[in-house]
Amino acid sequence: MSALSRISRISVPDIQARKGSEPVVCLTAYTAPTAKQVDPHTDLILVGDSLGMVLYGFETTLPVTLDMMIAHGAAVMRGSSQACVIIDLPFGSYHESPEQAFRSASLTLKKTGANGVKLEGGVEMADTITFLTRRHIPVLAHIGVMPQSVNQTGGYQARGEDAMEAKRIIADAMAVAEAGAFAVVIESTWEPVAREITSLLSIPTIGIGASNACDGQILVTEDMIGLFSNFTPKFVKRYADLGQEISNLAAAYAADVRSRRFPGPEHCFGADKRKAKIASVSRKAV
Ligand code: KIV
Repeated sequence: MSALSRISRISVPDIQARKGSEPVVCLTAYTAPTAKQVDPHTDLILVGDSLGMVLYGFETTLPVTLDMMIAHGAAVMRGSSQACVIIDLPFGSYHESPEQAFRSASLTLKKTGANGVKLEGGVEMADTITFLTRRHIPVLAHIGVMPQSVNQTGGYQARGEDAMEAKRIIADAMAVAEAGAFAVVIESTWEPVAREITSLLSIPTIGIGASNACDGQILVTEDMIGLFSNFTPKFVKRYADLGQEISNLAAAYAADVRSRRFPGPEHCFGADKRKAKIASVSRKAV
């Protein structure tokens, strides 16, 4: 990565400055080719630990390791040039102590060149966020539904319907903002709660299933283009069905191979007789 490409990226302060103005457009990417496609259209690319489920076929995000996040984060940096890139810290890489979080986050930024990290948690992670941000590591917080807590919560059902829970989520939002997070992802949370948080905080809120009251939106790219269909949350808008498209294309290829329509002469070396003859003559000459 050249110094110039680093400077030309949208920065964390640029994202922060968008509060209350233009919506912040965010998508996930896990690979260089996907990053290349989404980069011109997004302000922020998240290398989400959802890659554990979407790319690797795990049942939850819990098996994802720091090495996996670093490898995918570096690929996304190579594939993109203008969006702010944030990488998820995976389960177990920051929960033990602020010092452990610093080691994981600094290694991630050193090895990838990304702009910052994301971690899940509210009040209970505030000290860790303070520790990181005071040491120059930008943090995107993540509250509401937190997939890394699935063993404790038992699922991904939307949060904030009852008053007690709504109060807790609002307290989480205030805590992460006070701790120095530059923005906060609010996942699967009732609209009035997301609206209240957005009006209370001076940092941008990025919604995923948290309504258009938020300052920005994020979706998992594979959900949006129909490449991951194990389950589709209510908040996903499907813009294409690429999963079906890939299946159709694989079927067309299989039919071509079985009927010997592929490969054709245009895909072969020396299949044209005249050229084959030339090749054999020139081989004899050698
Ligand atoms: O891991 C992820 O992709 C995320 C988004 C869903 C916000 O955390």
